[in-house]
Amino acid sequence: MDKVKTPNDSLTIMTNIVLPNETNYLNNLFGGELLSRMDKACSISARRHAHTHRVVTASVNQVSFEVPIPVGSIVKIEAKVTRAFNSSMEIISDVWLEDPSTGQIIKTNQGIYTFVAVDANNKPIPIPKIVPQSQEEKDRYDAALRRKQLSLVIAKRMDPQDATELKALFAQKEEGSN
Ligand SMILES: CC(C)(COP(=O)(O)OP(=O)(O)OC[C@H]1O[C@@H](n2cnc3c(N)ncnc32)[C@H](O)[C@@H]1OP(=O)(O)O)[C@@H](O)C(=O)NCCC(=O)NCCS
Repeated sequence: MDKVKTPNDSLTIMTNIVLPNETNYLNNLFGGELLSRMDKACSISARRHAHTHRVVTASVNQVSFEVPIPVGSIVKIEAKVTRAFNSSMEIISDVWLEDPSTGQIIKTNQGIYTFVAVDANNKPIPIPKIVPQSQEEKDRYDAALRRKQLSLVIAKRMDPQDATELKALFAQKEEGSN
């Protein structure tokens, strides 16, 4: 498991339209449908990074619904692994709305998913390391440990006292406010 990968190795792009049976009563894309699409895109990214079909969603964090997506829209989801830990990986899914008449593309949503690679007995297994390339990939990589610790604290899998990245963040804020 010594092969080092880049975020682009896991890049997954899913483009689809919004059909009437995928909308809410306001004729906009139903939130649960979008979550499902993002989960699928992230699952493919995770498989590409981990070189296995056996990955599971461990957590979904910080999903934002910023702009409604009307029926008939063209929706593009881009998912990439931002950081690989031991068996788990963070994947960010960015959602874009495309207007074919103007060519305009606007970002509507973002979701942050954690997937874990598992063996045939559903036990976590090691995954390749990742080396970010672009500045955005480096920023996302750096922030991923903080998000992992937050997710583990919320899931009661980590004692807040051990969340070094979160403590450092609050310490910085306190220094800044003096
Ligand atoms: C996710 C799962 C495999 C973790 O198994 P586990 O035996 O608890 O294993 P661990 O505690 O060693 O966790 C494995 C990794 O997941 C990470 N993890 C687990 N829960 C997490 C959470 N809520 N947020 C972020 N990371 C999490 C751990 O930090 C660890 O990461 P690392 O190996 O990279 O350091 C297990 O809980 C599971 O199978 N859950 C059900 C998944 C599922 O069915 N998903 C479909 C959605 S319905």
